[in-house]
Amino acid sequence: MHDNPFRPGFGISPPMLAGRDALLDEWREVFGLGAWSPYRAALVTGMRGVGKTVLLNAVEDLALAHDWTVVHGTLHASLVDELEHDRLPALLQAQDAEAVTRDVTGVSVPQLGGITTAVVRQYEREPRLESMLGRLVELAEGRGAGVLVSLDEVAIESLDQLRRIAIAVQHLMREDRRIAIVAAGVPASIAAALDADGLTFFRRAQQVRLDTLTLAETRAAIAEPVRSRGRTIGEAALDRAARGSEGYPYLVQSIGARAWEYTPSTSAITTDAVQHAVEVAHAAMGESVIVPALRGLSARDRDYLLAMAEDDGPASTAAVAERMGATSGNAGRQRSRLLDGGIIVAPERGRVEFAIPRMREHLRAHPHDAQLGLPTKARETFRD
Ligand SMILES: Nc1ncnc2c1ncn2[C@@H]1O[C@H](COP(=O)(O)OP(=O)(O)O)[C@@H](O)[C@H]1O
Ligand SMILES: [Mg+2]
Repeated sequence: MHDNPFRPGFGISPPMLAGRDALLDEWREVFGLGAWSPYRAALVTGMRGVGKTVLLNAVEDLALAHDWTVVHGTLHASLVDELEHDRLPALLQAQDAEAVTRDVTGVSVPQLGGITTAVVRQYEREPRLESMLGRLVELAEGRGAGVLVSLDEVAIESLDQLRRIAIAVQHLMREDRRIAIVAAGVPASIAAALDADGLTFFRRAQQVRLDTLTLAETRAAIAEPVRSRGRTIGEAALDRAARGSEGYPYLVQSIGARAWEYTPSTSAITTDAVQHAVEVAHAAMGESVIVPALRGLSARDRDYLLAMAEDDGPASTAAVAERMGATSGNAGRQRSRLLDGGIIVAPERGRVEFAIPRMREHLRAHPHDAQLGLPTKARETFRD
């Protein structure tokens, strides 16, 4: 019996994190001693399923391996509250023995579960977020490390929360304290964050635009886990699986997992198994990726995508406007919104293409749904 190594879904680290080594080296510099790196403040962006969350996980693991303290949060309306009342006190409680003893041996002895409250009370002076983070940094620096603040799912509705955290982090950075921040979100959310008042700090941050994987990276992401679990996959099967994924990480795992399961007790993963896996994985893209990406688009945006889907390859922007019955100026607004949202890409002047695999096919089959897209350099590696 072999366990399936592939990890279809979102936010679950893959057996092999392909194509991100150079990036992780940048963060290794941040967590190593001394060197200043622009990656101390970084914004990670890319379409749904490209691997933002698992990259953040890998960055957090690196930080922990260097003895850094990690403050992780997913953006939502009450994240700052949660950090101030729950997460940061818990981290402080674990690390700041002195503070806890001082309070615990004070006049009012907190009962079971009261230690966190004691820590919260100790950091009562405003702004609490900043003083708690400051103390965590101080403790980390005391052991030659620092604090990483890692924020996932930056969203337009929670920019105020991001702003409060960014202000606290920025303040500590200005004092040259050892703190780093990384935030991830889909392109439209990151664009909104860069535009927002009070978040100018991020305009100087390192922008990390995650691309799909190259053909070679995709092949490695499939072959390596198969072989390390004691099974084999031939050249033809591997090539078919890699090309079927178009280098889109979500599909790599989805195809890998399904090919593995096809005949789990044989040693070889055959081209038949892969063929079946690619079909099933493609069919599942609508529900898992494409429909969610289409949500939140306006009817006009969707019209633009439907007009694009009439072509088999990159569409001319003029032709798209004409099909929509719009002036090219009007269609241009849709185009830039869709580009910002990471739904489409512009492979060359005057042309647009879907950013996410299977979106064209999905829109043709289900014109009432919405749309999505896929980037450029990695895409080239799939052209024969
Ligand atoms: N570099 C990679 N190599 C192989 N698989 C990956 C890679 N990045 C992401 N994945 C896989 O892709 C899927 C989506 O990743 P996730 O981080 O959740 O995407 P996002 O947060 O951008 O929506 C997961 O199943 C994950 O295991
Ligand atoms: Mg994610």
